[in-house]
Amino acid sequence: MTVNFDELLDRRNTRSYKWDQSAKMFGSEDILPLWVADMDFPSPPAVQEIVKRRAEIGAYGYAIRTDDYAESIVNWFRRRHNWTIDAAWLGDTPSVVTSLSLCVEQFSEPGGQVVLQSPVYYPFYDVIESNGRQVAKNPLVNHNGRYEMDYDHLESLFKGGAKLMLLCSPHNPGGRVWEKEELLKLGELCLRYGVTVVSDEIHCDLTFPGHTHTPFASLSPEIADLTITTLSVTKTFNLPGLVTSFLVISNKDIKAKLDKRIHTLSLHMASHFAQDAVVAAYNDSEDWLDEMFAYVKNNLDYALNYLQENAPAVKPMKPDGTYLLWIDCRALEKDKDGLKQLMYQQAKVAFNEGSVFGSEGEGWLRINLACPRFILEKALKQFADAVNAAGAV
Ligand SMILES: Cc1ncc(COP(=O)(O)O)c(C=O)c1O
Repeated sequence: MTVNFDELLDRRNTRSYKWDQSAKMFGSEDILPLWVADMDFPSPPAVQEIVKRRAEIGAYGYAIRTDDYAESIVNWFRRRHNWTIDAAWLGDTPSVVTSLSLCVEQFSEPGGQVVLQSPVYYPFYDVIESNGRQVAKNPLVNHNGRYEMDYDHLESLFKGGAKLMLLCSPHNPGGRVWEKEELLKLGELCLRYGVTVVSDEIHCDLTFPGHTHTPFASLSPEIADLTITTLSVTKTFNLPGLVTSFLVISNKDIKAKLDKRIHTLSLHMASHFAQDAVVAAYNDSEDWLDEMFAYVKNNLDYALNYLQENAPAVKPMKPDGTYLLWIDCRALEKDKDGLKQLMYQQAKVAFNEGSVFGSEGEGWLRINLACPRFILEKALKQFADAVNAAGAV
């Protein structure tokens, strides 16, 4: 493998969501973007190669999905996650957030309660509220700097009538890779109260040594029966701009209902580029993934040490996985506008401001670690200097 993860792939002026919006969103062109979860690394060479070959065809007509597409998914989950998926359980949507929204629409009642565990990836709120449902929050408990699920409160929400839950596994922004026992306990509660679970496992391939992702649907056939798993190749291999994702559903009734809606909205069509990219990623890019994530682990260690030495007032939550670092900045005693000012005006960096993940995220920031080390070093130094200048250390 010859990828140099130290080199910055310059994406300015490429219609990049991350790099071409600093002036508009944060007030200045020269703000370093370490926010939205896409990586500043080139996508795997095998994917680049096939996308170029598809571009060279020169005619971009309707495309089909062939068997090798489903096989690449089935083989990946067997090989990397010890999870046996039947190809008949697969379905396609343009994005994971599309899937989450469709599930809310199809498996809860207007005005009904949908459970999430806050703080959480902000579109979880959007898909509940924009479908006219109510967010039923089960706030995560910060136990010694690590999030845990509050099962008692969760049970009270289920007792109160919530029949649908959006699970983020691994968890964004807290970086928890839920352990099998934790998920089993959740699964038992869902079985007892007849709750359907939409398990967003988009970060499943991004786990640090010592942590293993357990697919929620792999826990037992009964739990699989109440689970819709939403997945995508895009987070693992840095391909979100290809706009592709898939669902895994073994329950035939649930699958039929969703398939019907997906067809009604004509969301099922294949893209000219995405299927080949998925095959090249899952079949030919495993080394790239392992090297890339080892690089991210070194970035994580660097960030943890740097912040401890240079900005001890802020407390990072050590993640089990994901390339996101969630840092507790409450000791700085700044509200969300104060934190934005510190980031954008003093430090000239853009991390995610925590309150967008829910009120539990107020006073927190989320840093994207999937960038060349020199970018991370520069961003953390600028941030620590601004924290120090604000007199908080
Ligand atoms: C938990 C989670 N789900 C979904 C997504 C986005 O997926 P998609 O682009 O397929 O909608 C992200 C992106 O960061 C995420 O963190």
